Amino acid sequence: MGELRSKITGTGSEPASKVVTNLELEGLVDTSDEWISTRTGIKERRVTTGEQASELAAGAAKKAIKAAGITAKDIDLVVVGTVTPDMVFPSTACFVAASVGVRAGVPAFDVSAACSGFIYALDIADKYVKGGAAKNVLVIGVDFFSRIIDWSDRGTCVLFGDGAGAVVLSATRGAKTGLLSSHIHSDGRKWETLYAPSHPHPNPFEKKTDHSKTNVKMNGSDTFKLAVRTMTNAAREVIELNGLKPADIKLLIPHQANVRIMKATQQRLGLSDDQVFSNIEKYGNTSAASIPIALDEACAGGLIKKGDVIILVAFGGGLTWASAAIRW
Ligand code: UT7
Repeated sequence: MGELRSKITGTGSEPASKVVTNLELEGLVDTSDEWISTRTGIKERRVTTGEQASELAAGAAKKAIKAAGITAKDIDLVVVGTVTPDMVFPSTACFVAASVGVRAGVPAFDVSAACSGFIYALDIADKYVKGGAAKNVLVIGVDFFSRIIDWSDRGTCVLFGDGAGAVVLSATRGAKTGLLSSHIHSDGRKWETLYAPSHPHPNPFEKKTDHSKTNVKMNGSDTFKLAVRTMTNAAREVIELNGLKPADIKLLIPHQANVRIMKATQQRLGLSDDQVFSNIEKYGNTSAASIPIALDEACAGGLIKKGDVIILVAFGGGLTWASAAIRW
């Protein structure tokens, strides 16, 4: 029969509809297309004009379900990586499950791991599949940073965008294909490098909290250095544990935070330009959505064929970091 494993059987993505160019941001903060392009690789990003994160997530999920050749009735678990849910509760996963027509009673929950959220969700889904508790899992990464960034802070507002990406992770047996391994990590001691406070209404017994301080805060240069070092090490971990060499890797799909972070990671891993996927110029940093959107575009562009080895690697607030190896 062979060992029970998980494999991605369908992908889908849905960036927010409104395109905002660097030029448009020149009218909002003291910045320039030249600065943003050369420092980050971003040319434009997508921003919500009213659609909810769960709506985009459901759109991406429907495409992934169709691509997998199943129906929503076949889904038996929904896991969503996000730090920008529509509401504190219900979870985004509950909204998506209802919207795409997943059966009532199927478990659905969100995972909070910032930009590493999709790989965290994938790692959890894989464990359900390998343990025999789920056959088809909807795994989603979605984030709407346009709603939590300070639009007057040029150090952060130019970097992020809104979007969703999804995969169906299905049970399979036999040859060593599908998810080879995934690895998730955190270090809460460095939380102040990158965070977004949440201050719901204070109760009548506590000191008043400052509601003006709820936006994303980032120490850019510390985050940059940590991202390069951590993503390189996380990619090395999954590459070595699977007995792979750089030449075995068809495509590295890194979290899309900054083209210079991706380039430095690529160089440290000894990979060529055509082994690293980037679409950051179109979307900016979409947090948990960046990897599943990139994966969907790489598949649609014919860059991934049966048997190819793909490495996913992410880094984000928490701090969190994660990696995965997939034989397609
Ligand atoms: O998802 C994971 C989390 N995010 C990341 O991984 C992002 C990591 N960090 C970065 O990508 C980079 O650090 C940034 C893109 C945020 C900044 O690039 P940098 O090369 O590290 O620039 P810097 O922070 O050292 O700033 C250089 C200058 C500063 O001016 P002074 O102090 O030298 O006069 C900034 O004030 O650039 C200025 N600056 C800007 N200028 C124009 C910062 N943001 C902007 C801007 N437009 N948008």
